[in-house]
Amino acid sequence: MTIKQIKVYAPASIANLGPGFDVFGIALDGLGDYVKVRRVSEPGVRVVVKGFEADQIPVKAQLNSAGAVMNAALDRIGESVGVEMEIEKGIPPGTGMGSSGASAAAAAVAAQKLMGYMLPQRELVKLAAQGEAAVAGSAHADNVSASLFGGFILVGDGYDIVRMDTPDVGFVVVVPNVKYANKTKMARELLPKMVVLKDAVRNIGFASRMAAAVAMKDPVMFGKSICDSMIEPHRASMIPNFHLVKLAALQAGAYGCSISGGGPSVFAVGENPAEIGKAMAEAFGDVKSDIYLTRPSNLGARLV
Ligand code: HSE
Repeated sequence: MTIKQIKVYAPASIANLGPGFDVFGIALDGLGDYVKVRRVSEPGVRVVVKGFEADQIPVKAQLNSAGAVMNAALDRIGESVGVEMEIEKGIPPGTGMGSSGASAAAAAVAAQKLMGYMLPQRELVKLAAQGEAAVAGSAHADNVSASLFGGFILVGDGYDIVRMDTPDVGFVVVVPNVKYANKTKMARELLPKMVVLKDAVRNIGFASRMAAAVAMKDPVMFGKSICDSMIEPHRASMIPNFHLVKLAALQAGAYGCSISGGGPSVFAVGENPAEIGKAMAEAFGDVKSDIYLTRPSNLGARLV
């Protein structure tokens, strides 16, 4: 080990983006988590959480997405090392904006710097995905990859990542005030084991168009590709008034609208995100919501 203390920022992200379940992710501007790590003499990983709804985040290292990543990193080097981690949450947890993924990504970058090694890309993604496994029971890498590398991400087999710069377009994420324990795990359990062929074909079509839109830097085609027949119908029930909220977004000029990651946030893409967000918040009716206006970010996790 060469460095004693380090602080890393990682951005929030939206996973799935409609048609790309567990494959697509995009990093967001202006919203992220900080993870500060310090090498200490007493072996083991100790976690402190501050910031946004910090009391909801477990501090037991093996149950915390950043702590689990650090545990896995220490196992890798096989040394009896001690690490103190301070996580400063800027992303509301359990809402679908990649909160656990951002902390995990920041921890993975911090771990490799602290240990003085550079992991190959796939290994870094695999390490960060250990954080998702700890909190969601599944080592999916869409959020963590977007938080690690910024931009628009395609996750392939064996954590093989394709990354592209994103088209520049307005995003709004509206977070209804509904809470679910173990939300991502629950949202995944709502999904069927088998999909209908015509739904799969429709999703493949929109996912392909979305990847093409990113390559062509076409914000309109990008937004209009936010269509999902495979996942959204099964998760809509988690979100109060989901269909009205989506309709309100489209009527307010959104190119597309869907569930952000595992929900319950709903995101929309368009040129007037403030108006779209207002219409969506109104459609939530009596359920209060928070509106986040943002844009995609081409920057991923970085030392600060
Ligand atoms: N792809 C994941 C899901 C993202 O939709 O379950 C949430 O972590």
